[in-house]
Amino acid sequence: SDSITVGELAKRMGVKANELIAELMRQGSMVTINHPLDYESAAILASEFNYEVENVAFDEETILEVEAKKEAEDNAEDLKTRPPVVTIMGHVDHGKTSLLDAIREANVTEGEAGGITQHIGAYDVELDGRKITFLDTPGHEAFTAMRARGAGVTDIVILVVAADDGVMPQTKEAINHSKAAGVPLIVAVNKIDKPEANPERVKQELTEFELVPEEWGGDTIFVEVSAKQQTNLDTLLEMILLQAEVLELQANPNKRAKGSIVEARLDKGRGPVATVLVQDGTLKQGDAIVAGLHFGRVRSMTTATGKQVKEAGPSFPVEVTGLGGVPDAGETFHAVESEKAAKDVSQHRQQKQREIDLAKSSKVSLDQLFAKM
Ligand code: GTP
Ligand code: MG
Repeated sequence: SDSITVGELAKRMGVKANELIAELMRQGSMVTINHPLDYESAAILASEFNYEVENVAFDEETILEVEAKKEAEDNAEDLKTRPPVVTIMGHVDHGKTSLLDAIREANVTEGEAGGITQHIGAYDVELDGRKITFLDTPGHEAFTAMRARGAGVTDIVILVVAADDGVMPQTKEAINHSKAAGVPLIVAVNKIDKPEANPERVKQELTEFELVPEEWGGDTIFVEVSAKQQTNLDTLLEMILLQAEVLELQANPNKRAKGSIVEARLDKGRGPVATVLVQDGTLKQGDAIVAGLHFGRVRSMTTATGKQVKEAGPSFPVEVTGLGGVPDAGETFHAVESEKAAKDVSQHRQQKQREIDLAKSSKVSLDQLFAKM
C-alpha cells in the first residue's frame, strides 16, 4: 500500500525526525528514519502532534512520489506485453473514422454530425487474439489540442492521407505532433479506389517531411488502403502489430492503475462519464480514483462496444462512471489506496487551482488599475 517514510512525514510536519522516532518508540515500535508508515499510522502519529491530517500526510506529491517509486520497483516478471495504443491522425475528411470503422466493422462515421469528428474516440480491437487500442482524432483545424493529446498518449501514429487530396495543413500538423511526441508513424494512403487517386504524389509530397518509403530507400512504412472498399486493411494491421513488436511494449498489470483522461462529459442520467486510457496497472470496479481536480470510486466500466467490465488492464480504454465531477481531457488519473486519499489529493489540487485562479484575477485587477492610471 501507499506509504510515507518517517523522515518525509517529519519534513512535511516541520518537526525533527527524531521526535517522531521517539514518539513511535514510546508506542512500542523501533523504527528508522526510512521506515514507511501507511496512511492510517501517519495520520495517527501526526494527530499526536496536533496536526490536522489533511495538513500533513498524503498530499498529491506524496502519492505521486509513492507511485513513482513503485514503478521503479516493477520486477521483470511482473512486466507483461501490453497492446499498442494507435492514434489515427490526418487532415479533415481524409477518412480516419471510415478507416477505423472498416477495421472495427462498425459504423461511427454515419452517426457524426456533419460527418466531422469532434472528439477522440477510443476503441479496443482484437484480431486473432492480438489486441490493438485505437484512438480516433478529429482532423478539423479547430481541434489541435485533441490531436496533440492523442499523440501524447500513443505508441504509434497512423497518418491518414487521402490519395486524391495529398498533404494538407492538418497532415503537416499531425506529423509535427508525432515528431514532438517521438512516436513512430505509419502512413496510410487512403481512398485509392478513387479514379483521381494519386498515391505516388502523396509519397513525393511526404519526402519533404523526411517520410520516405522503403522502396525509395527510406524507412517509413506506407500502406495504400481504401476504407470504402476495405482494401489492404490486413496489411495495415500487420504493420501495426509488427511495429508494436519492435517497440516491446510492456506494463505491470498487477498494481493500481494510472492513465489518461481521453475525454469526459456530464451525462444527464449517469453523472460525470470519463473515457480513460489505462496506461499502467489494472483499474477495477470500486477503485478510489483521482482524476484531475476530481475524485470518486469507479462505479461502472464500459468498453467501446458497450460491454460492462469489472477490470481494465494496461492499454485498455473504458468509460468510467463514479467521479464527483468532470475532469479535463488530457489530465491524468490515478487509482489510490482509499477514497480518503483520493479526496485529499483532489482537495489539494482544488486548493492549488483556487490559488492560481486568485493570482490570475488579482493580476487582472492590478492590470485594470494600471490601465486607469
Ligand atoms: P474528420 O474526423 O472530420 O477529420 O474526418 P475523417 O478523416 O474521419 O473522414 P471520414 O471517415 O469522416 O470520411 C470523410 C469522407 O470520405 C466520407 O464521405 C467517407 O465516406 C469518405 N471516404 C473515407 N474513406 C474513403 C475511401 O477509402 N474511399 C472513398 N471513395 N471515400 C472514402
Ligand atoms: Mg473522423
